[in-house]
Amino acid sequence: MTSFELVSFIFAAAFLQVTTFGMLAFYRHWQVYQEVKRSLYGFDQRLAAEPVYKESLPISIPDKQPTWIGSRKFQVAKKEYEDASQSICSFHLVPTDGDPLPNFKPGQFLTFELPVRNPVSKELKKVIRCYSLSDRPGLDHYRVSIKRSVPPTEPPNLPAGLGSNYFHDNVDVGDFLDVRSPGGHFFMEASNQPAVLIAGGIGITPMLSMLNTYLQSKSSREIWLFYGVRNSTEHAMKRHLEALAKEHSNFRLYICYSKPLPEDSFGSDYQHKGYAGITLLRLTLPLKLFQFYICGPRQMMESIVPSLEKWGVPDESIHYEAFGPASLAKTKPRKPIATDEQTDAEPITVTFSKSGKSISWDESSGSLLELAERNGVEVESGCRAGGCGGCQTTIEAGEIDYTQEPDFDPDPGSCLLCISRPKRNLTLIA
Ligand SMILES: Cc1cc2nc3c(=O)[nH]c(=O)nc-3n(C[C@H](O)[C@H](O)[C@H](O)COP(=O)(O)OP(=O)(O)OC[C@H]3O[C@@H](n4cnc5c(N)ncnc54)[C@H](O)[C@@H]3O)c2cc1C
Ligand code: FES
Repeated sequence: MTSFELVSFIFAAAFLQVTTFGMLAFYRHWQVYQEVKRSLYGFDQRLAAEPVYKESLPISIPDKQPTWIGSRKFQVAKKEYEDASQSICSFHLVPTDGDPLPNFKPGQFLTFELPVRNPVSKELKKVIRCYSLSDRPGLDHYRVSIKRSVPPTEPPNLPAGLGSNYFHDNVDVGDFLDVRSPGGHFFMEASNQPAVLIAGGIGITPMLSMLNTYLQSKSSREIWLFYGVRNSTEHAMKRHLEALAKEHSNFRLYICYSKPLPEDSFGSDYQHKGYAGITLLRLTLPLKLFQFYICGPRQMMESIVPSLEKWGVPDESIHYEAFGPASLAKTKPRKPIATDEQTDAEPITVTFSKSGKSISWDESSGSLLELAERNGVEVESGCRAGGCGGCQTTIEAGEIDYTQEPDFDPDPGSCLLCISRPKRNLTLIA
C-alpha cells in the first residue's frame, strides 16, 4: 500500500465513523424531540387509539331524570362549617313532603328562591341563586355548601352578597327553603376514563359531588384533584379530602396554596406553592387521555381553559363551569339551536321599558342579560345558562332567538335573557 492509499484509507474510515456517529446522534435527538413535542402539544395517534372507555356510573340515574316542577319545600336538617375561617357553610336539606329525592348527575346544582330584604330599601324581594350539590346522589338529603360573599374593598360601602349572606345569617336548622329541581350541564360523564378535576376556591363544591359519587362507590376510575386556595384558612373539607386520598389509591390529591401561612406545612397541608395552573398540570400529569373538569373564579377559568386547548386537549374533553361573571360562558355552550330566520345586518334596538333605556344591539353585544347588565338595567340572574329561570323577563314587543335550548320552561310571552338575542327590534319589561 502506497502512503497515498494509506492516508486515503484513514480519511475514509474517519469520515465513515463521524457520519455514523452523526446519524446516530441525530436519530436520538429526533426521538427526544418527538417525545417532547407529544408531551407539549398533546396526545398522539398512539394515545388516541387507547381503549374505548366503557360507560359506568356507580349509581343508577335514568336518562330523563325524575324532577319536580316549580319549587318544592325543603327543611334544613343540618348546618355545618367546612373551613377554618367559617366562610363556607354546608346545609343538609330534606324534602318536607316525604317523597323520595330524585338522583342527580354529580356536578349539577339546585336553584333557590330566597325571600331577601334589600339592605338599602328594606323591601322584601325574591332572589334566585344557584348552588352546586356538594355530595353524592342517592342519599336521603341534598347538601349544598355556600361561601359567604363579602363586599369588594373598592369602591367602599357596597352591600355584601344577598343570597350567600341570607344563607349564613338567616337559615338555620329547622328552617324551610323553596328549591327548584337539580339541573345543569356541568357533570361528570358516566365513564371510567381517567379524569382531572381542577377547582379554585368555592369551585370545589361540584368536584366533591363527583369525588364522593365515584370514590365512595368503589369505582376504580383514576381521578386527580388539583384544588387551589390561598392557604389553610380557606381549605374546605380538608379532612374529608385527605381521608379519600388515603383510602383510594386511584385518587391523587394536589392541594395548591398560593399564599401559605407560616404554620402551613408543605407536603402535608399542601403539595404545591402557587396556583393550580397549566404549568403544574403539565409537570405532574402522566401522558394519558384525561377528561378535564374545571370550576373556579374568573381569572383561573380564563387562564386554564385556553391553556388546555393550546396543550392539545380535545375540546370534548374539557368541561367547565364558572360561578361568577366570566368572559367564558358560565357553562360551555352546547350546540346552538338552528333558527329559520337569520338576524340580518340592520341595526337592532333593544328597549328596556321600565328603566327607559334603548340600546343598540349587535353580534358583539352578547346575550340580552349581558347587554342589560352592561347598561345598568336591573335584571335578576342565577345560572346564566338557561337552567334556573332567574333571568325570565316579559317581552312587550318583538322576538328573540335562543342561542341554546333552554332547560327552564319560561312563561308564555317571556324569555330567558341569559341565552337570548333579539331577532329584530325588541321591547322588554325590565
Ligand atoms: C351553577 C352555579 C353553581 C354555583 N354553586 C355555588 C356553590 O356551590 N357555592 C357557592 O358558594 N356559590 C355557588 N355559586 C355562586 C352563587 O350562585 C352566587 O353567585 C354567590 O353565592 C354570590 O351570590 P350573592 O347573592 O351572595 O352575592 P350577590 O348579591 O350576587 O353579589 C355578588 C358580589 O357583588 C358584590 N356587590 C354588591 N353590590 C355591588 C355593586 N354595586 N358593585 C360591585 N359589586 C357589588 C357583593 O358584595 C358580592 O361580593 C354558583 C353559581 C352558579 C351559577
Ligand atoms: S340566569 Fe338562569 S336561566 Fe337565565
